[in-house]
Amino acid sequence: MSGTPAILAKGIAKTYGTGDAAVQALRGVDLQASFGEMVALVGPSGCGKTTLISILAGLLSRDGGKLQLAGTDPDALGNEARTLWRRQHVGFIFQQFNLVPQISVLENVAIPLLLRGERRGESLDRAAQLLERVGLKGREGSAPGKLSGGQQQRVAIARSLVHGPSILVCDEPTSALDGATGQRVMELVREQGCRPDRLVVLVTHDERIFHFADRIVHMDDGRVTREVDAKAEVAALRAAQGMERSS
Ligand SMILES: Nc1ncnc2c1ncn2[C@@H]1O[C@H](COP(=O)(O)OP(=O)(O)OP(=O)(O)O)[C@@H](O)[C@H]1O
Ligand SMILES: [Mg+2]
Repeated sequence: MSGTPAILAKGIAKTYGTGDAAVQALRGVDLQASFGEMVALVGPSGCGKTTLISILAGLLSRDGGKLQLAGTDPDALGNEARTLWRRQHVGFIFQQFNLVPQISVLENVAIPLLLRGERRGESLDRAAQLLERVGLKGREGSAPGKLSGGQQQRVAIARSLVHGPSILVCDEPTSALDGATGQRVMELVREQGCRPDRLVVLVTHDERIFHFADRIVHMDDGRVTREVDAKAEVAALRAAQGMERSS
């Protein structure tokens, strides 16, 4: 896959609804990303972040623009081929964690492997390893509903990583976590998600995790407004915080 851009998006447009009820969620988004990278999307509520990453994950069809994800346009695939492509290549952490309530935490984490037809025993072993990495050893047999919000979010993170996806999209992955836990799981996301043949696109309001990203892409009103190097953004934030403290 090296040599092929991981994400090549040009003029992505998306409108929900029709007529008076139409909402233009994306108004021509351009975005490029390479394997090995973590790109953070930031911007005000309603600016189109979830819509954009849903399109990048092949979960939602766009209305306009061009898109290549590791050389594949998910909208050019039929429904069945798109589902198979997604199972093979994509991981997601949803804003609402979307765990399956009727099955155990361990089985939830193993879902991406089981859907790909991998052996149950091996899938559950791999799921248990990921659960340990997110600090949930001992909770494998619990029902998701018996866990706290932060624990459920960590189950969702383990599930998103279990099959080694080439494209991982995360919607506010640390929203329910305390600072220290957020740092620990982001280390795991970075380690597992940003390999030479993988990348992560992350939506976040959490400035404490900006330093995990390589690039910060700012959005407003359905468009990308600017892109900055994450190190420069973090340095600027720290300087601004220092000035606040000394004033
Ligand atoms: N299923 C839907 N049907 C109709 N409108 C929608 C739908 N999903 C999103 N929208 C609208 O599209 C716009 C972009 O929504 P989106 O969820 O992408 O924003 P966001 O940047 O993720 O916001 P937040 O930070 O609050 O999660 C908003 O105006 C929203 O109301
Ligand atoms: Mg959102």
